[in-house]
Amino acid sequence: MSKVIFHAGHHPAVLAPGATLSEFPVRGGGPVRDARGRPLHDLRISVTDRCNFRCTYCMPREVFGSNYEFMPHSALLSFEEIARIAGVAVGLGVQKIRLTGGEPLLRRDLEILVGMLSRLRTVDDRPVEITLTTNGTLLAKKARALKEAGLSRVTVSLDALDDQMFERMSDSHVSVKTVLNGIEEAARVGLAPVKVNMVVRKGLNDQQILPMARHFRHSGHILRFIEFMDVGKTNGWNLQEVVSGAEILERISAEFPLEAISASYRGEVANRWRYRDNAGEIGLITSVSQPFCGDCTRARLSPEGKLFLCLFASQGHDLRTLVRSGASDAAIAAHFTGIWSQRDDHYSEIRGRETANREKIEMSYIGG
Ligand code: GTP
Ligand code: 5AD
Ligand code: SF4
Ligand code: SF4
Repeated sequence: MSKVIFHAGHHPAVLAPGATLSEFPVRGGGPVRDARGRPLHDLRISVTDRCNFRCTYCMPREVFGSNYEFMPHSALLSFEEIARIAGVAVGLGVQKIRLTGGEPLLRRDLEILVGMLSRLRTVDDRPVEITLTTNGTLLAKKARALKEAGLSRVTVSLDALDDQMFERMSDSHVSVKTVLNGIEEAARVGLAPVKVNMVVRKGLNDQQILPMARHFRHSGHILRFIEFMDVGKTNGWNLQEVVSGAEILERISAEFPLEAISASYRGEVANRWRYRDNAGEIGLITSVSQPFCGDCTRARLSPEGKLFLCLFASQGHDLRTLVRSGASDAAIAAHFTGIWSQRDDHYSEIRGRETANREKIEMSYIGG
């Protein structure tokens, strides 16, 4: 199969040596299903393993300190390589791409990658939705360029409204105001609705559930509460620290009555609830108390080009070697199809004693 050229701003970015402009976007082998019959709909791409925060549940400073060796730049996929793999995945059925990290806005010129990805079209000829998960520190500065490059929406992580608690959760000196400014600027330039993700840890930031709910009512942003998960091996997870979605719902609805609303698409991760007084909606992400593996259509691409089939996988499938070997799009699509069709992962459904000591990848490396 012939190669594709992406036009990034005024500079055409050629995807492979000797490439010619051909049909666009890349067409792969058509929709694929895994061993449990789940299609491939989402591709989450981690563009860096670095972050300017050290959230205790994700990159604890004892592990990710000054001696920690992050990936060298040469190991990272280039934007052209990412866009090429994404094009192949879109040909296999992907409809939504989420850029994550680490902190994705630390990757220089990210809007160029957004521009390349936003030109892709799904197998049924619709634009691919391009989204971004960020900690918000650089968002106020970057929002407009990202929107202009074709980004659809953003999701911003924010675990507390109180500055002291926020500093404790993120182990940084960034103020809550900086993140709130990023959220407002994103909404202003049209990266909306902005979703705000709060990971809840019992006995730590759970007193912030109500202040967060009050703050984001009437804002037009969608606040989502996430049950603390046992991702990676460094966050010292323990079931006692999980506040269940049911309990979060109880606490909020005691002050503001809520009613359930239906999912906006099949396999949506969050359960949606709306305030009865029309102040907006919230989401509950209950991957510990109510796993949603049955509908999991997500593949994850690591910064150096490994494909992971589950957030809790211990190993990825190297795509970089194939891409750098000069393989055709058809060969990459065939390889990808082979990997996806054997996928049987359903970690959250079998979480328990037998999985406790498993080797797992870090969330900071693969993104949410
Ligand atoms: P949109 O619907 O496009 O806004 O995205 P989303 O609902 O998938 O949200 P997002 O990517 O922000 O994910 C929110 C959080 O849900 C992540 O930070 C994770 O904590 C959790 N999550 C997302 N995908 C998975 C998954 O596949 N498995 C598990 N166990 N948790 C997930
Ligand atoms: N449990 C739940 N969510 C997590 N995230 C990171 N680590 C965890 C965890 N252990 C979330 C962050 C962010 C996204 C990148 O992943 O809050 O929203
Ligand atoms: Fe960085 Fe996000 Fe991990 Fe916090 S949760 S350390 S902001 S990647
Ligand atoms: Fe998907 Fe794995 Fe999460 Fe289950 S635990 S929803 S299979 S990523």
